[in-house]
Amino acid sequence: MTNELKNLTVVAFESRMSLVLQRKLEGLGATALVAPSMKEVPIAENPKVFDFFEELEAGRIDLLILLTGVATRTFISTLETKYPQAQIIRTLATKTKIVVRGPKPTAVCKMHNIPIFATAPEPNTWREILTILEEENCLQGRRVGVLEYGISNTAFLQELEQEGASVIPVPVYQWALPDDLGPLNRAIDAICNGEVDLALFTSANQADNMLRRAQERGIEAALRRGFYRTAIFSIGPVCSEKLSDLQFFPDEEVFPNKLDALVELAAKKGGMLAMRKKKRASVCEVRERVTPREGSRSSRSRAPSRRGRERETRRRQDPFTQTSDSPILRACRGEKNKTVPIWLMRQAGRYMAEYQMVRGKVGFLELCKDPDLAAEVTISAVERLGVDAAIIFSDILLPLEAMGVPLEYRDKEGPVIGRPARDIQSIENLRPVDPHESLGFVLEAIRKTRKALHPQIPLISFCGAPFTMASYLIEGKGSRNYIPTKVLMKENPSAWKALMKKLVMVLTDFLNAQVIAGADLLQVFDSWVGCLSPEDYKEYVLPHTKKLILGIKKGTPVIHFGTGTGTLLELQKQAGGGVIGVDWRVNIKDAARRLGKVGIMGNLDPVILFSKPEVIRREAKKILQAVGKRPGFIFNLGHGILPETPVDHVMALVDFVHEWKVR
Ligand code: CP3
Repeated sequence: MTNELKNLTVVAFESRMSLVLQRKLEGLGATALVAPSMKEVPIAENPKVFDFFEELEAGRIDLLILLTGVATRTFISTLETKYPQAQIIRTLATKTKIVVRGPKPTAVCKMHNIPIFATAPEPNTWREILTILEEENCLQGRRVGVLEYGISNTAFLQELEQEGASVIPVPVYQWALPDDLGPLNRAIDAICNGEVDLALFTSANQADNMLRRAQERGIEAALRRGFYRTAIFSIGPVCSEKLSDLQFFPDEEVFPNKLDALVELAAKKGGMLAMRKKKRASVCEVRERVTPREGSRSSRSRAPSRRGRERETRRRQDPFTQTSDSPILRACRGEKNKTVPIWLMRQAGRYMAEYQMVRGKVGFLELCKDPDLAAEVTISAVERLGVDAAIIFSDILLPLEAMGVPLEYRDKEGPVIGRPARDIQSIENLRPVDPHESLGFVLEAIRKTRKALHPQIPLISFCGAPFTMASYLIEGKGSRNYIPTKVLMKENPSAWKALMKKLVMVLTDFLNAQVIAGADLLQVFDSWVGCLSPEDYKEYVLPHTKKLILGIKKGTPVIHFGTGTGTLLELQKQAGGGVIGVDWRVNIKDAARRLGKVGIMGNLDPVILFSKPEVIRREAKKILQAVGKRPGFIFNLGHGILPETPVDHVMALVDFVHEWKVR
């Protein structure tokens, strides 16, 4: 038997067989930390569940909130030790109103034909539950049961009480944490500190309890980061599924699912896998913690003095900044690369647990305006995925708020602009913007990110292009046909011009301030420009986008991105940008040929990421082969990552592109 375990540090969460496993691992030369992570609680011994069921049967519970699938299933199976299933289901279906948080409790209800009264929209956090229940006005004076698995969500319970509900939390669990938490705490600490090479999971519940303990201690983010450098071994498909659900993706799964076989597999592949993981995580190595303590909120930081800004300018002009030889910046200069650089639009977003953790506590705008949290989210995406660039966490619409237009993000609808500008008067009312004053939080987020990010990873900053910004300003929200936008453009060209001029002024200053703050390259997002004919693009858009790009501090690389631009590519190139970003509706080879001497970025369809990894690799390969040796290529999606995308598929894409040899 090959043995790669010598000198590796191995954590395992086995409880019953902990001593046996400890000895086995030590016998193979590993430093073993076997931490029992759970204690079985006989399900029939949960009096709160039975008391609560009596209340339900008596019709005294107005609403029952199901937060997770596990809680719902365990609740039903606990009751089944005393009542027939039909009675339980009938009670749930007829005696109360069921509110579910996400797809998993929904699936349990559907399986049993339990009608659902309300479902929380995405991103399926308790905030969305609260919003719908407030909107439906069903909290005041009502008795509300909340099924809880793991730690109690006190913030949620308090908010419900504040809305006038009387709340009955019902803890359901089958596996409690062990009485002695010492070994589990030490194992978690060792993972957080990056000291662990391999983690062995020998049952699905271990993952739950490990995470639950880390959450109780407020160190979930550190635990997740620790796992970037720890190879994960799972004992079988159920365990792997649980791990993946929690976004701790197993590197190996054993078959047959026996303890001995797991140890054997770890001995065979552990060394190689641990090394591969550590290499991938090397971008995390020099990281300075951005948030001192999880959950602690930063104070708003002041804009730097003029002196400070000048000092920053000098630093940025230093020709020896460590990002300049990075594959992305080399591609921007049209230089050859041995490997293909990749980053992904919307790489920090709702599909990722690290993002959900932060977003569960604050609203989207609040997150954008908190430089510490924005930096945290920006960097964790790079570390999680192993991509070649960071993109600052922000939004293209923030300058509109600075111009005096109310801006709101609604969970179902996306951004909503309070007073759409559709006439010359409202265009004249738009305020000029000093980015240091009213967009200082973005600049501060850039400074903080640059300071904490790996020195060789470039930081991308961005703005919306004048057309895309104008479309939001005029429509008031996302649009399908851009009717008011095109009507204004055609009926009132002088108002259109005035609007473009204002936007270009604001955006130019904003981009330059971002460069001074520490952005290594810029992206101009003209996401919706593909709705225009080439003639209209040329007349109404090109001169303004060109002016914006010409106004950027010389020497700053610029990516000019649009979607649906198949008929606009040559014109888009005329407008400027050293790299043109294209979506999947164009053939990348044709686009490259038409564009000539300029960088190109794209263009995998984001929907491909929902397919199996083999399909993802096959499709990515087509793009890589089509581009061939052409210098100046950056791999990206054709548009942003969609919210439900599986994170492990994204990582599979990144790894595949990185392993590709340019030839
Ligand atoms: O990781 C990154 O790419 C950086 C962050 C980033 C966001 N928005 C975060 C975001 C970037 C670069 C943008 C740009 C942006 N914003 C564009 C241009 C790119 C594109 O996708 O075409 C546009 C058109 C917007 C406007 C916008 N912001 C929309 C339409 C939406 C709602 C739709 C959606 O995807 O949710 C937003 C909100 C938004 N911006 C989210 C994120 C992560 C989701 C907010 C949340 O619920 O947490």
